[in-house]
This record gives sequence, structure tokens and C-alpha cells, in this order.
Amino acid sequence: MTIHIGALPGDIAETVLLPGDPYRAKWAAETFLEDAKLVNDVRGMLGYTGMWNGHYVTIQGSGMGMPSLSIYANELIRDYGAKTLIRIGSCGGMQPQVAVRDIVIAMTASTISTPSRGIFKELNFAPCADYALLRAAVDAAQAKGVTTHVGGIYSSDVFYDERPELNEQMTRHGILGVEMEAAELYNLAARHSVRALAVLTVSDHLQTGEALPAEDRERSFGDMVDVALTAAFK
Ligand code: HPA
Repeated sequence: MTIHIGALPGDIAETVLLPGDPYRAKWAAETFLEDAKLVNDVRGMLGYTGMWNGHYVTIQGSGMGMPSLSIYANELIRDYGAKTLIRIGSCGGMQPQVAVRDIVIAMTASTISTPSRGIFKELNFAPCADYALLRAAVDAAQAKGVTTHVGGIYSSDVFYDERPELNEQMTRHGILGVEMEAAELYNLAARHSVRALAVLTVSDHLQTGEALPAEDRERSFGDMVDVALTAAFK
């Protein structure tokens, strides 16, 4: 047990999927895993472990934003021995060709700051995905026929952003979408020599204002879970 995760040693798999929303962890575990067992409910941040195609997998909520994700990812890696961590979440589209329902696979994650800022100081470290995982996820997403974009994303500290000009610069530099967790996951993976990836569904679009209707969210989220699991065990 750790401060934020109540699981016993051995109850957490080496492969962990990290949705921001704990109820999505519950839904994904009940939908995709066999013999899914609740392994964490500290602070309601639900985590489940079960089997997928003969592989032991944990699906653990990470909460919203990098400080929250950092707590769970640190404990999963340092205390439970997680080796492959895949964020599954949503992002806001930032390019005209990136449409709602598409999948964005994050090769890199730009930020203003992360919880690792104190270590990096003046260094602009470039957090990037594990290449083998990224490649496997791209193959899996394309095999499912989901329109998939691979490139840089922006991990923001704010959902209600008061700096539209910053978003414009991100768009100008080809950033595909904005979310709030991936950069710190990639930083931690680099620091601890484990594998990380973020697979994201475009849930809304900053330029068009389009948003994924509630009834479509489950299917898009399911596609993403499937892509993440397939990539993890390729
Ligand atoms: N901003 C930040 N995070 C997000 C967004 C957004 O517009 N959409 C989904 N996650």
C-alpha cells in the first residue's frame, strides 16, 4: 500500500492504463477485462486489475492534471513496479484536420510547466513517447479504421485557458490537441526507464467549438482502450 493506492503488492500489473476519470477505469475494466477486481478505491480513484487476452492488466484512474497524475504514476512505478503506462483520455483538437472522434497519439508533449520543473530548471526537456508503443498503437488504431493523427500535443495546466494567443502559437507549430497529463507521464517514464504513451480521443475542438455528443463518448473511449491494450501487448 502507498499513500494514495490501497492495492496490495502483486495486485498491480506491470502494464497500467491510466484514464483521468475513475469511472472510466471502472467501465473499461468491466468491459474489457476478465475477472476484474477492484484494487484501489482510496479517495474514490478507482483502480482494477484483471486479464486481457491472457495478460495481467491494471486500469487505474489518474485524476485530472499533471500534479494528480504524477502522484499515481510515481507510486505505480516506484512502489508497484509498473513498466508500461498508457494514458487513455480526451483532448481538444487544435488543427483543422483533427476532428472530433479521431484518435491522437502523442509523440511529444509540450508544456509551460510540469511537476518536474523543479528538477529541470532552465532545461527544456522534451518529453516523448516510447517508440515501440507508439508504433504499435498507430498500427492498432489504423487496423480499427479510426482516423488517427500522430504528433505533438500540448499538456496544459488549465482547462479554462485565459491565454488564447498561446493556443494560437501551439496551433501554428503543428500541435494536434490539448490535454492536461501526458507531459508529466512522459517525464516520469524517462526518469524511471519505463515505457509510456498517451492515446487520446478528440472530445472537442478549440477552433470549431464542436463537441463529442454524450452518446458517442463510450464508443470512442472503447476504441481507445482497445488500441491501448493491443499496443501494450504487441
Ligand atoms: N483543454 C484541456 N484539456 C482537454 C480539453 C481542452 O480543451 N479537451 C479535453 N481535454
